[in-house]
Amino acid sequence: MAIERTLSIIKPDAVAKNVIGQIYSRFEAAGLKVVAARMAHLSRAEAEGFYAVHKARPFFKDLVDFMISGPVMIQVLEGENAIAKNRELMGATNPKEAAAGTIRADFADSIDANAVHGSDAPETAAVEIAYFFRSSQVFAR
Ligand code: PPS
Repeated sequence: MAIERTLSIIKPDAVAKNVIGQIYSRFEAAGLKVVAARMAHLSRAEAEGFYAVHKARPFFKDLVDFMISGPVMIQVLEGENAIAKNRELMGATNPKEAAAGTIRADFADSIDANAVHGSDAPETAAVEIAYFFRSSQVFAR
């Protein structure tokens, strides 16, 4: 199976709940390695740029407002099948529909405040990783 990289964000609600370590433990237990990481309080322009693909959707402003409401933890995860594996760990976008034991089932309160983001395909992963990290900031492990 291919070794992939994916972009993960621990969103402001989960950072405020002080569960960064618990979420990192789940990545590690699933065989995903953190190969880049930084904490940031995104500007409106940064959040709008990151979610530009969703600009026409009715929730765009709410999503951006939420993502700039507090600091986020941004990381690159590396491992076999990392993109799908991370999305499996995350659970469904709406925590009410997320499978038991997933990050969103355990830590998210609503579809607006849903704890984590994860890239959904290799192409978007490459774009999203480059949005937040220079290649020299991503470490082979
Ligand atoms: S996903 O995760 O991309 O497959 O889900 P999608 O439905 O395409 O949603 C895209 C991102 O928008 C967020 N979202 C919402 N935010 C606020 N309010 C509502 N109603 C809403 N619905 C979806 C969703 O969490 C996705 O953000 P990310 O950061 O990619 O998870």
